[in-house]
Amino acid sequence: MVLPCIDLVAGARPNFMKLAPVARALSIAGQVSFRIVHTGQHYDEAMAEVFFRDLGIPNPDVNLEVGSGSHGAQTARILERYEAHLLSNRPNATVVFGDVNSTVACTLAAAKLLVPVAHVEAGLRSFDRTMPEEINRIVTDALADLLLVSEPSGVTNLRHEGIAESKIRLVGNVMIDTLMGQLEKAKERGAARRLGLEGLRYGLVTMHRPSNVDDPTILRRMLVLLRELSKELPLVFPVHPRTRQSVLKAGFGDLITAGQTSFICLEPLPYLDLLSLAQGATMVLTDSGGLQEETSILGVPCLTMRENTERPITVEQGTSRLVGNNADKLRAAFHEALAGKWGHGAGIPLWDGKAAERIARELAAWLIRG
Ligand code: UD1
Repeated sequence: MVLPCIDLVAGARPNFMKLAPVARALSIAGQVSFRIVHTGQHYDEAMAEVFFRDLGIPNPDVNLEVGSGSHGAQTARILERYEAHLLSNRPNATVVFGDVNSTVACTLAAAKLLVPVAHVEAGLRSFDRTMPEEINRIVTDALADLLLVSEPSGVTNLRHEGIAESKIRLVGNVMIDTLMGQLEKAKERGAARRLGLEGLRYGLVTMHRPSNVDDPTILRRMLVLLRELSKELPLVFPVHPRTRQSVLKAGFGDLITAGQTSFICLEPLPYLDLLSLAQGATMVLTDSGGLQEETSILGVPCLTMRENTERPITVEQGTSRLVGNNADKLRAAFHEALAGKWGHGAGIPLWDGKAAERIARELAAWLIRG
């Protein structure tokens, strides 16, 4: 019997964490075959390859090698190259993940060629169209044929946008599958020990959103504040390439120098090291969507340095609190977390390590039974 063949498309760091458990579940179920398409949106060893290795993702069948660029240029390049790939290797469906430029570009290419699209992590909305990811989410969901949703707000949002009920499935969160599958291995990595923080309290910082790093005034304010807070709690800060670029362009390089003992600035970390640090942290300060989810399951306080979130369940039932980038608000939240005045989260339905199994079942039913 010839199995239906689908493309699993990923391009950027958070995509790889979502693709890994789905590829594994599809292999185990054996009802659908797949090809892995890497767009090459992220290409540094630390931003891409290391994730394939650590998470046991098979080598990509195709790498579109699109690289960086402005939103328009990057999206266009992915669209053009993925379309060419589809024209010569048409799959039965395309599966896209998350909300990055690769997600929307490959959805557009597939939809125009009438290749059905499934979107993993559909329906999330920040209602903030200044975020490039929000535009990507809206367009992807409008075009997708199967919408695989991680939390109930996603279902509500899709209904409000008039998406047919028959296309929507609440399946849970695949990021948490990866977390649960890798947690023991991550603990063994001893990332804190390697940074000289064994047995010490510390915080973990990640920051890369345009709203925090593109405007030099805001960026400087954030870095100065983080350095101030690190005098009370050592902060580990793996610096995203986008952030490093903004810091250097604005002439703030002295604020993120390596070798400091309390504000520990590093290159981007592999998934297992980041998880190792997150699970042992006293708190996480972040503008990442993934870390809001991961800390909610780890029970680690999460100071979310954003004004809004497309993942409201992490605030309602998890450990995330929106603190924006206002210094007073951030400082106050930091002291509350440091004093242990923070909830530990109550567990989130369907964030149980089995979302990918449900996705594999839904994909097979969708492709085989229609
Ligand atoms: C992208 C996603 C964002 C996600 C983030 C996770 C979009 C619109 N944004 O943001 O949602 O949270 O990935 O990391 O898709 N760069 C490198 N090496 C790389 C990749 C990028 O140096 O391997 C540098 C380049 O200078 C590039 C910049 O980082 O211009 C930004 O990369 P890009 O993929 O455009 O967006 P991110 O900020 O990484």
